[in-house]
Amino acid sequence: MTDVDLDAVVADGLAAVAAAPDLDALDTAVGGLFGRRGAVSAVQRSLGRLDEAARRERGRAVNDARARLQTAIAERRAVLEDQRDRVVLAAEAVDVTLPPRTPRRGSLHPITETVEALVDVFAGLGYTALSGPEAESEWFNFTALNLPRDHPARSEEDTIYLEPLTPGGPAWSTLLRTSTSPMQVRTMLATPPPLHVVVPGRVFRQDTPDATHTPVFHQIEGLSVDTDISMADLRGTLAAVARAVLGPATRIRLLPDHFPFTEPSCQVEAWDGTRWLELLGAGMVHPTVLEAGGYDPEAVGGFAFGIGIERVAMLRYGIDDLRLFSDNDLRFLAAF
Ligand code: DAH
Repeated sequence: MTDVDLDAVVADGLAAVAAAPDLDALDTAVGGLFGRRGAVSAVQRSLGRLDEAARRERGRAVNDARARLQTAIAERRAVLEDQRDRVVLAAEAVDVTLPPRTPRRGSLHPITETVEALVDVFAGLGYTALSGPEAESEWFNFTALNLPRDHPARSEEDTIYLEPLTPGGPAWSTLLRTSTSPMQVRTMLATPPPLHVVVPGRVFRQDTPDATHTPVFHQIEGLSVDTDISMADLRGTLAAVARAVLGPATRIRLLPDHFPFTEPSCQVEAWDGTRWLELLGAGMVHPTVLEAGGYDPEAVGGFAFGIGIERVAMLRYGIDDLRLFSDNDLRFLAAF
């Protein structure tokens, strides 16, 4: 087969090798030359049909052609390998000039901050801070606070009743506490008078959320029991606390109210510059509650209060919707 144009095979081969855009394409081009059905292989096979002298001469030409092609292939391969390595390296490159991702500094949640501020002020007045269980027995939550089983106020607050703490116990025996007040009787049962404690914590209500209510919120309960405590002590204490956490110009007012566990009872409001905002309920501890705590109402008396932490935080930070505290919006939280 002397009719195969060796020069054309070489020229086509060199062109295909030079044009190969990547290593896969180069391998394909090499296959087209040296593979079983490759152009060079075909020329080589045709040598067998030539006579001795012609074969020798043609053989040399084929060897030359083969050498030229292989040199071109090796050169192209080196270029393509280099290209591939650059791409890989570029993908793995680390830009040491990029500014580092610094960790974002967190801050205390405004509710936590307000609790700490209140506890601090009360500590200065001689109060000890305690915490109590969020899952509370209905006895501490209601009965001991002078709300017997049939008291209508129970159903205004009722939250979620949990599996009984005591296996086989009545289903209504444990609920999410509706206020921090159950800690009044728990603390009295654990400690003899005199007693000056505050109990911050999370409480639960069946409430429809609006700007001043959420079903989960925070209170700080206060209880002060001694031999000679009056409503004036209550007023003086709360006025001092309000000035300390809301500013020295803060005014409070006491309005008559009713709670089964205090007698008399009042509501305390603070002036925010434009309106009075209810902050807390308070009163003189009811004799029945002192008795439930194992105290003698003839020998000691005291006052109690339950402050709405969110209400204090709203005044402290000038926030008009307490739902913001639980929305978990970082734009809001980052402002504190
Ligand atoms: N427990 C009441 C509530 O959650 C608040 C309260 C009122 C607490 C009067 C008291 C108190 O200690 O004396 O609405």
